[in-house]
Amino acid sequence: MRIRRTALAVVSAGLAFALAACGQNAAPSTGGSAGGSTAPAADGVKVGVILPETDSSARWEGFDKPMIEKAMRAQGLDPDIQNAQGDEQKFSTLADGMISSGVKVLVIASISSDGGSAVAAKAKAQGIPVIDYDRLNLGGTSDYYVSFDNVKVGALQGQGLAQALQSKPGAQVIEIEGAPTDNNATLFYNGQQTVLKPLYDSGALKLVQKQAIDKWDNQVGGTTFEQILTANGGKVDGVVAANDGLAGAIITVLAKNGLNGKVPVTGQDATADGLQAILRGDQYMTVFKPIQEEADATAKLAAALAKGDTAAADAVATQNTDDPKGNRQVKSVLLTPQLITKDNVKVVTDAGYVKASEICVAATQAACTQLGIK
Ligand code: BGC
Repeated sequence: MRIRRTALAVVSAGLAFALAACGQNAAPSTGGSAGGSTAPAADGVKVGVILPETDSSARWEGFDKPMIEKAMRAQGLDPDIQNAQGDEQKFSTLADGMISSGVKVLVIASISSDGGSAVAAKAKAQGIPVIDYDRLNLGGTSDYYVSFDNVKVGALQGQGLAQALQSKPGAQVIEIEGAPTDNNATLFYNGQQTVLKPLYDSGALKLVQKQAIDKWDNQVGGTTFEQILTANGGKVDGVVAANDGLAGAIITVLAKNGLNGKVPVTGQDATADGLQAILRGDQYMTVFKPIQEEADATAKLAAALAKGDTAAADAVATQNTDDPKGNRQVKSVLLTPQLITKDNVKVVTDAGYVKASEICVAATQAACTQLGIK
């Protein structure tokens, strides 16, 4: 491997020299940010990226994958982006393959902290720096962490629900949470409770039941919600759904019971389906997390680490995240989430994150027109 890479580097250095000798246009005019006379040497530096699931959220394949691809290419990196499809064994096998193929940096969004930490340890043993992407591996050894302020995400969900139920004292709430193995699900829950617990304690709201959903499985989320609803005599006034995927499954159950549009449901990820549900009035809110920023920060970090430039990486990751299990602080980039209700869905289309054409369909066109979304 080493010999081949060296040979390739010689070839590409030769090519760069040949291009430079041909004229002044050696530096590519596209992409811009990769820039600098050393760009050709960094070209083709392999970075492995493993995403956790496809079905838990539309984000991974619809947003993260293309956005990471674009951001990494702009940094002169050559990303290999794979999805473990919720399978721990596959996650581990993908990582082994990437490590032996000579990636310079490994970026992982894990299914579980244990699985992610095991992979990070293997990479570290080979001297490969690891970035935890979106999900922190508790008790792990990854060098950096890039995500959003996930407690804030949960607080926005709690705030949205509290706002929707403020004129319904004693409203009955069911909470459908994310995967117990995903530290983010814990952070979202903790954030929600900063707002909801005082309301439960005062009797302003009543908690029927909370339930975590393995692997964020949307279908299981829907059937679990249905069971809780039935056991509660078909009564519910508000639902905490930890993301738009779970919200969609819950709204299907509400619709079966003639309750959609009457019971506020939270969400997260600002997916096209979630935004449509908001415009129809079936979902109360979502959380917009501009994933391009997450991808850009990750690509910058990876580019610095691929060069062994930890000072440059530290300059990107200026925040810290507490890992209570590993009893350490992890250098981080933590981006800011935004609360989206019907009134400001336009923020998401204006940002170019989702196209108006993806959310303005027959059932939502009137709302789109009224809100100036086009
Ligand atoms: C992510 C969410 C996503 C969920 C399910 C979480 O770790 O932060 O954006 O909806 O996983 O995939």
